Amino acid sequence: MKIQAFQAQGLRNLNDTTLVPHGNVNIIYGDNAQGKTNLLEGMWLFTGLRSFRGAKDNEIISKDGRFCKLELDFFASGREQKAKMVISDTKKAQLNGVDLKSASALAGSFCAVVFSPVHLALIKDGPAVRRKFIDSALCQAKPSYAALLTKYSRALSQRNALLHDARFHSQLFDMIDMWNAELCSAGAQIMALRSKYLIRLGEQAREIYSGISGGKETLDISYLPSFEYDEASVISCFEQALKNSLSEDMRCGSTTVGPHRDNFEILVDGLSARKFGSQGQQRSCVLALKLAEASLLSKITGEQPVALLDDVMSELDAGRQDYLLNRMTDWQVFITCCDPHPILRLAGGSCFEMTGGVLQQSTLL
Ligand SMILES: Nc1ncnc2c1ncn2[C@@H]1O[C@H](COP(=O)(O)OP(=O)(O)OP(=O)(O)O)[C@@H](O)[C@H]1O
Ligand SMILES: [Mg+2]
Repeated sequence: MKIQAFQAQGLRNLNDTTLVPHGNVNIIYGDNAQGKTNLLEGMWLFTGLRSFRGAKDNEIISKDGRFCKLELDFFASGREQKAKMVISDTKKAQLNGVDLKSASALAGSFCAVVFSPVHLALIKDGPAVRRKFIDSALCQAKPSYAALLTKYSRALSQRNALLHDARFHSQLFDMIDMWNAELCSAGAQIMALRSKYLIRLGEQAREIYSGISGGKETLDISYLPSFEYDEASVISCFEQALKNSLSEDMRCGSTTVGPHRDNFEILVDGLSARKFGSQGQQRSCVLALKLAEASLLSKITGEQPVALLDDVMSELDAGRQDYLLNRMTDWQVFITCCDPHPILRLAGGSCFEMTGGVLQQSTLL
């Protein structure tokens, strides 16, 4: 997957912009608030997903204009393709000259992975963020996984409602076995898939992290389920865990064990990255996880997603920057940064400077 050209008109603070990028590394540097992230955001919209900043459509339109028009020429599935998008009161998209039902129908045609400082939450925040990351990765890798999650969360809400209501109507307890069975059946499949996926993701992320850290540090992902289980008998272990926690569950009116309480720990040299990792290590971990996810997805789809790395350079030492600039050879990468110094280390690739919404080929190289 490669972007051949990107054009924007009326995109936030950007002037009419045309970017013809390099097939490998592209650096976009400039002071704060010049429009670097806006440019990445515009390209990201062609994944058919929502803005990685959580922006609403009308926030993307320049505050002085009434519409935003974007065009992307890209090479994917062995051919040159063209996507267009117009955001005004509505959002319309076209792929290779054909109008799409909605912009989200672009999903799967153009693929990208994005790192932005908000994604550091993957290390810094609680387990829910990590579960969401694994779940959305698994949903893309295995479409039937989404249905399993829905089945599980339905059974969980029913069981929780029952735990709550049975405090006042004890006869309702007769139904708990039914919800336990449903919860265990979907839950055991979720846990087995998560565990298998984490092994593959861990292998890939370890390799990437080793490259980032110049082979000096190791990354591991460890699965921390809410109860102990044995691979061969997940369902019966889950049933037993539900029995053991029943009085606690009744007391708090909710289910205290199961995959909705899973955690995943990210370890650097055997220590929790959340508790002991430096800023640079935490950044490197998130980067390795995101690139590993994309790399696994490319094995399934046969297409290597474009990497959009927003403000990833700060807090990385020269060796780590060197990896991003010169050794991510399989990827087309877009890296934004404030400090133009790292680009002096760039062997190939292209550099652009963003000033007040105007993008220009850099004169520094
Ligand atoms: N809808 C909009 N219309 C016009 N300008 C906008 C709009 N949305 C944001 N901006 C402006 O875009 C600028 C921010 O751009 P952006 O976030 O891309 O900066 P940046 O170059 O990535 O900066 P940093 O290095 O701080 O991350 C701000 O000046 C902001 O006011
Ligand atoms: Mg920015």
